[in-house]
Amino acid sequence: MRIVKILLTLLFLAFPVISMGEEVDEFPNPHWAEDEKLCLECHDIVPRRGSGILNLKFEGDIIAVCMRCHGLISKDKSIHATGMVPSKEMIERMPESFKGALKKDAIGRITCYSCHVMVEQCLSEYYGRREKNALFHRGGPYEKRTDLCYNCHDKSKYKKFNPHDMINDEGELRTDICTYCHDIMPDRRKVKSIKDVSFKMKRYDMLCLRCHSDDAYAVGCVTGFEEDGSPIFHTGKPQKDMVDKIKQSEKEKDAILPLALVTGNIFCGTCHNPHELGVQRRHEADVGADSHKRLRISRQNSRLCLGCHSSKEVKAFENK
Ligand code: HEC
Ligand code: HEC
Ligand code: HEC
Ligand code: HEC
Ligand code: HEC
Ligand code: HEC
Ligand code: HEC
Ligand code: HEC
Repeated sequence: MRIVKILLTLLFLAFPVISMGEEVDEFPNPHWAEDEKLCLECHDIVPRRGSGILNLKFEGDIIAVCMRCHGLISKDKSIHATGMVPSKEMIERMPESFKGALKKDAIGRITCYSCHVMVEQCLSEYYGRREKNALFHRGGPYEKRTDLCYNCHDKSKYKKFNPHDMINDEGELRTDICTYCHDIMPDRRKVKSIKDVSFKMKRYDMLCLRCHSDDAYAVGCVTGFEEDGSPIFHTGKPQKDMVDKIKQSEKEKDAILPLALVTGNIFCGTCHNPHELGVQRRHEADVGADSHKRLRISRQNSRLCLGCHSSKEVKAFENK
């Protein structure tokens, strides 16, 4: 049994995105534990406050401690990247407690601990904070989620910069903007679809959520909310029937509904056109740019939703 367990652990670490249905239920929720046995999910022995001895598993590698479980149970959630060493400029911007958190890692990387203060869920004297700061955010609770981000990221770069503004007052293309999202500057003459362009980020939603995590809560962006209020983004993968329906709709409405490459999932850019009107030479890819909420197809009379869902499904959504 023990060997099997170790093997599984290794598998999880090596393939954090692998899907292993049943095992998921086997992870207990160790946070805010009443039972000290659960401390041992992260510590090798139950540490005592002030003893200075933590005995964290995985030789103190916090990312590994968390990913043993979250590599699987949170694989569909948007979890911030970890493992990178922040730039000097970023470190200077950080408040003391964020700087201090870097020191918990042997080489000063961003870890889960950078943003999640574990002790709030370790020691019962802090459990009272759970109500206000359910995700034990460092420096939390925050009024807006993005306030957490600005402890490290430059607020002025995020908020003031409008990447949808792609054509300057002289009517010239601002080519420097393109590589804010694209890996390589797209050649507008040659590109015929999303398949011919590449992106800076693997997770396409992140292209948008780095700025829009506070306002992408409309019906459409999300299909609902978790109990704790966190959004369930609309990121499903259309099955064969739906893909056919999308193709049909693209023809009829003369507007594209592009799906993410590799995964085939829908993402922010499926419904919204992030470009400025005129950037796209292909007419059907230009549609929706600069329109109401940048929607590729108007949401009036559920036209957008009907691009993929049947009218029966749409009625069911409305009655929910
Ligand atoms: C989900 C993983 C996890 C669980 C479960 C957990 N801890 Fe921790 N704990 C950590 C991490 C990571 C740190 C190191 C970060 C820090 O020092 O705050 C830590 C730090 C501590 C510290 C040092 C804090 C300080 O300021 O001195 C104590 C004491 C502690 N844990 C006790 C416990 C006890 C007791 C339990 C069970 C009731 C427990 N922990 C459960 C992850 C966990
Ligand atoms: C033994 C498995 C396990 C380990 C190890 C673990 N977690 Fe969790 N964690 C869970 C489970 C189970 C949940 C509940 C998830 C759910 O219901 O979706 C959870 C929930 C959370 C939540 C959301 C809080 C909530 O109440 O839903 C955060 C944040 C979190 N974990 C962070 C961490 C961090 C950071 C670490 C590493 C220091 C860590 N976890 C280690 C199993 C684990
Ligand atoms: C840069 C800050 C940051 C780092 C680093 C970070 N998180 Fe989070 N985490 C957040 C924020 C902000 C949220 C709230 C997410 C939301 O509202 O979408 C969150 C939410 C979560 C949740 C709840 C997810 C949900 O939607 O239910 C879990 C679980 C979690 N984090 C685990 C982790 C683990 C494990 C790591 C390390 C691998 C990690 N986090 C690293 C900021 C961070
Ligand atoms: C503890 C510091 C810290 C906090 C807090 C933080 N970040 Fe980051 N973030 C980083 C570092 C370091 C990088 C690596 C790239 C860089 O230097 O910009 C990064 C990169 C990113 C990236 C690009 C990485 C990728 O996935 O390709 C996005 C998007 C991002 N952060 C969004 C956010 C959002 C949204 C929040 C708030 C919920 C946030 N960050 C909070 C430190 C932080
Ligand atoms: C805010 C992020 C973002 C920026 C900035 C951006 N793009 Fe895009 N681009 C996307 C996304 C997402 C797609 C995939 C959806 C689509 O096809 O429109 C895409 C697709 C494209 C396509 C393929 C469209 C098609 O389906 O035929 C072209 C061409 C393109 N971009 C050109 C540009 C140019 C030129 C710029 C700079 C002026 C630029 N993009 C800036 C996000 C961006
Ligand atoms: C660097 C930050 C940034 C990024 C990245 C970004 N946006 Fe925006 N977005 C803005 C700003 C600034 C505006 C201007 C209007 C505003 O203030 O809401 C805007 C406006 C919008 C609007 C219209 C909102 C309204 O209320 O009219 C939509 C929809 C939108 N963006 C979608 C996207 C999508 C989809 C992506 C990813 C492909 C994306 N954005 C990436 C900053 C960003
Ligand atoms: C299935 C289609 C769909 C997807 C996918 C989608 N949205 Fe939306 N989005 C909508 C609709 C519909 C609205 C509401 C427009 C209105 O208010 O008339 C909207 C509104 C918005 C707004 C304006 C917010 C406001 O309150 O006015 C922003 C910003 C936005 N979306 C960003 C995003 C981002 C970022 C993503 C990816 C995480 C995303 N959307 C995914 C359909 C979608
Ligand atoms: C580009 C295709 C596409 C568009 C456009 C679209 N959806 Fe979806 N939607 C999907 C996919 C794919 C799923 C996931 C299907 C599944 O897993 O059952 C889904 C799932 C949903 C769900 C969850 C269904 C459930 O039973 O849990 C709701 C609610 C929903 N969509 C509402 C809408 C609304 C409202 C609109 C219009 C604003 C819309 N969708 C537009 C593709 C789309």
